[in-house]
Amino acid sequence: MAQPQQSAGAEAEQPPLRVGMVGYAFMGAAHSQGWRTVGRVFDLPRRPVLAAVCGRDAAAVRAAADRHGWAAAETDWRALIARDDVDLVDICTPGDSHAEIAVAALAAGKHVLCEKPLANTVEEAEAMVRAAEQARERGQLAMVGFNYRRVPATALARRMVAEGRLGRLRHVRVTYLQDWLVDPQFPLTWRLRREHAGSGSLGDLGAHIVDLAQYVAGERLSGVSALTETFVRERPLAGAVKGLAAAATGGTGQVTVDDAALFTARFPSGALASFEATRYATGRKNALRLELNGEHGSLAFDLERLNELSYHDGTESPAHAGFRRILVTEPEHPYLDAWWPPGHGLGYEHTFVHQARDLVHAIAEGRQPDPSFADGLQVQRVLAAVEESAEKNSVYTPIAV
Ligand SMILES: NC(=O)c1ccc[n+]([C@@H]2O[C@H](COP(=O)([O-])OP(=O)(O)OC[C@H]3O[C@@H](n4cnc5c(N)ncnc54)[C@H](O)[C@@H]3O)[C@@H](O)[C@H]2O)c1
Repeated sequence: MAQPQQSAGAEAEQPPLRVGMVGYAFMGAAHSQGWRTVGRVFDLPRRPVLAAVCGRDAAAVRAAADRHGWAAAETDWRALIARDDVDLVDICTPGDSHAEIAVAALAAGKHVLCEKPLANTVEEAEAMVRAAEQARERGQLAMVGFNYRRVPATALARRMVAEGRLGRLRHVRVTYLQDWLVDPQFPLTWRLRREHAGSGSLGDLGAHIVDLAQYVAGERLSGVSALTETFVRERPLAGAVKGLAAAATGGTGQVTVDDAALFTARFPSGALASFEATRYATGRKNALRLELNGEHGSLAFDLERLNELSYHDGTESPAHAGFRRILVTEPEHPYLDAWWPPGHGLGYEHTFVHQARDLVHAIAEGRQPDPSFADGLQVQRVLAAVEESAEKNSVYTPIAV
């Protein structure tokens, strides 16, 4: 098995891939870790270089550059995308700036990685897809960062579904449960304002589970029936943000996004799906749970136990059939031949290493990375259908194609 130190040397004839990242907080830190680590673990055709990072405050972005290992710091994303020593722009800002930065970066000749959700509206996402398609003709590539596809256990689940181990799918059941908004005094951060975030739990958590459910099932949703709710409509204004949290300042403001979104959905194959995305599931911290039931078996995954996949093989004798735990740490499992010996598990941050790995390979090989901006647009259309259905009291709403 390749160990991190051993596999680092296989750098190829291709030039380094010089990355410029916009935003350096939660996702900025996670992506930095991915870019820093990926070439030390995986054999890569191009070696990522942390060329420059961008924020808006000069002292803060310089400190972030030093902490996370970026060579240079910029205070304007336009200056970052104009740099000759940047090949790929990695967008880790809130959704309100994704479209503008991505379209400009593609026009400037860069590859682009953009955090999810792709944009705040379908129209913005469509403009991003148009820009990506034009850039593709010039050899530039664009990807959206749905990192939960890169958990070895979810990638294994997809493989098992594609192999037909579950047979025809009947149910896809997904929840993404957090609880950081339970306190009504939690401040009004950008995630709670529609002009910054596009939507609330729906675009933040719902986008992830729509992408993951479709990825694992291997098909796209055709329509939804939805309910959304905003439980706490006014909150203290927010000061500096750290992670999901922030300090309160004086005064209050309106919450303009959903707090929770529940929806049922159909797959064209006839399978039924259900989704729940909330920040009010008291006691649940990052509980992304996925279960698939097919005619021959079932699979279940819980992000809070991300090295495990539960599998029930319905073709076994009922005398000894039952859910069993696959410890997803074997070299035969996705991504794991480059990591640690069996049983030495991975965590959340490794999904960003895997995301960087997959993107570097796609760029070096000149092929479209998954998920594409078009995939991100399709998720955006599902989110829009959820909002439309919720506005009409759950009327079943087909997803635009
Ligand atoms: N993949 C995941 O699991 C995951 C998790 C959290 C967030 N996200 C997504 O990542 C994105 C960023 O979220 P976050 O949690 O990192 O937010 P954050 O608030 O922690 O960080 C946002 C960063 O963007 C910077 N920024 C904002 N506007 C800017 C501008 N105009 N120019 C330069 N920098 C600017 C801020 O200074 C900050 O560094 C969002 O799209 C979010 O949905 C993804």
